[in-house]
Amino acid sequence: MKEVVLQVEGITKTFPGVKALDSVSFDIRPGEVHALVGENGAGKSTLMKVLAGLYKPDGGKIVYRGAPTQVAGPLDARRKGILLIHQELSLSPELSVAENIYLGAWPTNRFGVLKKRELRRNASAALEALGCGFGPDVRVGTLSVAMQQMVEIARAEAFSANVVIFDEPTASLTDTEKDQLFHTIRGLKARGVGIVYISHKMDEIFDITDRITVLRDGQVQGTVDTAETNLNQVTRMMIGRTLDAYFVKAKPEFGAEVLRVEGLAKQGLFRDVSFTVREGEVLGLYGLVGAGRSEVVETVFGVRQADAGKLFWKGGKIDLPTPRQSIDMGMALVPESRKEQGLVLIMGGRENTSLPHLSLFSDLSVMNRTKELATFEKYRSALSIKTTGPDQAVSQLSGGNQQKFVLAKWLCADPKLIILDEPTRGIDIGSKSAIHELIADLAERGLAVIVISSEMPEVLGVSHRVLTMSEGAVVTEFKGDAMTEENLIDAVSRHRDEAAA
Ligand SMILES: Nc1ncnc2c1ncn2[C@@H]1O[C@H](COP(=O)(O)OP(=O)(O)OP(=O)(O)O)[C@@H](O)[C@H]1O
Ligand SMILES: [Mg+2]
Repeated sequence: MKEVVLQVEGITKTFPGVKALDSVSFDIRPGEVHALVGENGAGKSTLMKVLAGLYKPDGGKIVYRGAPTQVAGPLDARRKGILLIHQELSLSPELSVAENIYLGAWPTNRFGVLKKRELRRNASAALEALGCGFGPDVRVGTLSVAMQQMVEIARAEAFSANVVIFDEPTASLTDTEKDQLFHTIRGLKARGVGIVYISHKMDEIFDITDRITVLRDGQVQGTVDTAETNLNQVTRMMIGRTLDAYFVKAKPEFGAEVLRVEGLAKQGLFRDVSFTVREGEVLGLYGLVGAGRSEVVETVFGVRQADAGKLFWKGGKIDLPTPRQSIDMGMALVPESRKEQGLVLIMGGRENTSLPHLSLFSDLSVMNRTKELATFEKYRSALSIKTTGPDQAVSQLSGGNQQKFVLAKWLCADPKLIILDEPTRGIDIGSKSAIHELIADLAERGLAVIVISSEMPEVLGVSHRVLTMSEGAVVTEFKGDAMTEENLIDAVSRHRDEAAA
């Protein structure tokens, strides 16, 4: 028997209408990276929240370092050495890095007065051990997502964690930041920390993990050694079948021009961006995170202001629209951030008038309109959205199912042009191909589609034409046989090197 740091046996957790975990058994060895994979809603985050003390299980036991253990709450988990890095980061932006690392466990003297110097000293040591390029006094709200994640990881040092759980940690990281994260994970591993790694990115799973446990509908399908399995086997365990055709491209039958953008510019974000998209066409926008792709489409849609540029809609010149006008014309933008979307959906109604681009989403809320319920049902089955019913609060859905819901909601609005920003981020591989089929289907029905993706096979697989963006500029357009991975990488990296020189 190999050494085990944490073991769960027969854990069960039920929410109203869902058995999220059904007698789950699973163990973590010191110094291993253990992948937890499964479809959206399979129960991955729930299991980890049980270990981190956020949910109390209905049954089963946790054996930690050889002894049966109850985890009373998140702080108790942290003190015991079990640390969860959340799917959505959860730090307090107003507090300093040091205060966040020790949140809820600030060192005080016997009169309850905060020992500031000790707090700073310990936090500094934790940050240094990780090689972070910032100090303990910085306000967390000013840090990038990757740096905020490092602050959460610094808790592993500060609390001498034995188990660290990463729930989809690379969702909003650039490639360089991902490499840094993997370096940090390998460092934790080398020191004997047991690591759980949740992701839908199968290449990452095969890159960094030692074992893979597959969850399906709250049940463990099995645990395999990463070196002894392959993508097909894991996919079959996850969704009950293999996937041979990942990508479907719409038949290339194009109609009239729907949108033309000329010389769009915004100081500090992007410059001289021009492109067109026609009916029935899927235009891909490829670039690394931070290239300015989201900013461009947000400006076209009217969420952001431009400094210069012209817009033509169905051949006629128009002023840069407001989001309301964009929607009325027949434009839809499905943004990449599901967190904002989810929030709006919890609030519902018209409570968020202060945020114009958010309130417009709630105006279209599917939940309140019986007329659109049938359409929603259609997409719910097409995208296999896992809910207990139309009344379930979106906040209770798993991360990936929230994302699918946002997509479905926009599709119901029946647009002429739909812009999809990272449509499959956080989506399981079975549903990914359903979304690709849906994109092809939309184009074949005559919609113009713009797809932003950081995943090269995806952007090449679904698009008729691909524009590469780098450092705020459109670099090259590729179509037909020129649409290859080599060409895209080459275009993006050559431009970056030139910009750096
Ligand atoms: N607080 C909650 N209240 C009610 N139901 C919940 C709650 N949290 C999770 N669920 C349900 O439990 C099931 C498992 O959700 P969980 O978040 O664990 O999935 P996941 O495997 O992490 O999925 P994803 O890959 O989409 O993040 C889902 O059906 C979800 O809707
Ligand atoms: Mg999850």
